[in-house]
Amino acid sequence: MTAAPTTDGVLVDRYGRVARDLRVSLTDKCNLRCTYCMPAEGLPWLAGPQLLADAEIVRLVRVAVERLGVTEVRFTGGEPLIRPGLVGVVGAVASLTPRPRISLTTNGIGLHRLAPALRTAGLDRVNVSLDTLDRARFTTLTRRDRLADVLAGLAGAAAAGLTPVKINSVLMRGVNDDEAPALLRFALNHGYELRFIEQMPLDAQHGWDRTTMVTADEILGALGQEFDLTPDPAERGGAPAETWLVDGGPARVGVIATVTRPFCGDCDRTRLTADGQVRNCLFATEESDLRGALRAGADDAELARRWQAAMRVKRAGHGIDDPSFLQPTRPMSAIGG
Ligand code: 5AD
Ligand code: SF4
Repeated sequence: MTAAPTTDGVLVDRYGRVARDLRVSLTDKCNLRCTYCMPAEGLPWLAGPQLLADAEIVRLVRVAVERLGVTEVRFTGGEPLIRPGLVGVVGAVASLTPRPRISLTTNGIGLHRLAPALRTAGLDRVNVSLDTLDRARFTTLTRRDRLADVLAGLAGAAAAGLTPVKINSVLMRGVNDDEAPALLRFALNHGYELRFIEQMPLDAQHGWDRTTMVTADEILGALGQEFDLTPDPAERGGAPAETWLVDGGPARVGVIATVTRPFCGDCDRTRLTADGQVRNCLFATEESDLRGALRAGADDAELARRWQAAMRVKRAGHGIDDPSFLQPTRPMSAIGG
């Protein structure tokens, strides 16, 4: 008899996918109000006691790194820079063995000031969200006049060595869908790596519409008017972005085509919400409560076992195109990007 492949010590699902990339949401709050994410008045935020404390976050990340084979930790939000304990959490995660790679997805506000301390604490890289370079548009899109802060944040990240600095852009029809080439020109000029993300049905207002979303093909078509794009020979691995060399390289541009070119078959992600729930997918409709177990006194082995059980039942794909698709009740800002 041959032994079944061992799945001890990893997060593996029924389809054999192994999750090594952990996304941790540190808060559901944000200092912007991007129209594709939140209503103007914000959302009913999680209450203080619901949020994991800094030490609880570090404990769960430690279990993931020490017992479950996680090698990559990305902090997200809402807006992670508004979490007071962020630098300390990064420092504690950077001291784990084996040390995971650590990155941050942020809107960039306040990054200029915090980048040096985050770098010293052990942060490796940042992804900054920036959808437009036009101040009036930025103000309409995010409902806050903060473009200058985001641009300063990008520069501060690069100066602090949080490189490669990546930019995430979401294009919306009739809002900023004419800006793809300008965003790429800007990124190339500053040495930032730009990735476009197809808009996903994760907005709190449930206003997403498949028929009007800007597709990867459209984005590539618009870029092709001004740049020569060739497929990037580098291995994609589990990375969601498909990348192209720009004008022969080495500069690159990426497109994350979650909707029109799903990459669920290669997904290597597991998610932890700010209130301590494991989500096995952005689009999952069920969660597993690690906070309750942790606060009830579960030991590390038990937490690891629960996390494995939560990942085992991960669905094959997001099913956005299925008639039965249900948008998750939690919006993006409470899941983490
Ligand atoms: N679709 C695609 N991307 C989104 N983001 C937020 N909401 C959506 C959505 N509905 C992006 C943000 C940020 C990252 C965390 O996810 O712009 O770059
Ligand atoms: Fe904040 Fe990000 Fe949502 Fe914009 S998309 S409101 S920056 S959480």
